Amino acid sequence: MILPIVAYGDPVLKKEAEEIEEDYPFLKELIDNMYETMYNAEGVGLAAPQIGKSIRLFIVDASPFEEDEPSLKDFKRTFINPIIVEEEGEEWSFNEGCLSIPGIRENVSRQPKIVIEYMDENFNIVEEEFEGIAARIIQHEYDHIEGILFTDHISPLKRRLLKGRLNNISKGNVKVNYRMKFPKS
Ligand code: NI
Repeated sequence: MILPIVAYGDPVLKKEAEEIEEDYPFLKELIDNMYETMYNAEGVGLAAPQIGKSIRLFIVDASPFEEDEPSLKDFKRTFINPIIVEEEGEEWSFNEGCLSIPGIRENVSRQPKIVIEYMDENFNIVEEEFEGIAARIIQHEYDHIEGILFTDHISPLKRRLLKGRLNNISKGNVKVNYRMKFPKS
């Protein structure tokens, strides 16, 4: 089932999300629905707060980046209760977008290498290292479960310049070809 994606301005996107237990109700169904929702919106990542659930869960499928980085072909993962335990290297800039903020893209600087501990969909504990675009997508989604958006990483001046457009997104005055829920419409 395709779920509505929560738009910029909804308080759930600014909240630090909660860890979940293995018996979280209908978890498998929720994860399946999140994948369906992400693919329908042509996204490469989706975090639970973006579908209105303040829990520490996000999904990633970076296969659309395969052309730029062949190693991303099979980079599809479900992250439950993740912790980024290490971030290193010199910050690099990448143009980020977000399904909750349609039509806006900005360069964001982040470190290139991370080590992350998480549980997979079967609650097996995994530790993995990622770099480049894979790390970038994870950092962006990880921010979502911490209540942080990519617009929080840009300069105050740039944010001020975007204010009108962000307000319009909250009100639903935006062209988007997937289902959304707008906080001020
Ligand atoms: Ni996002």
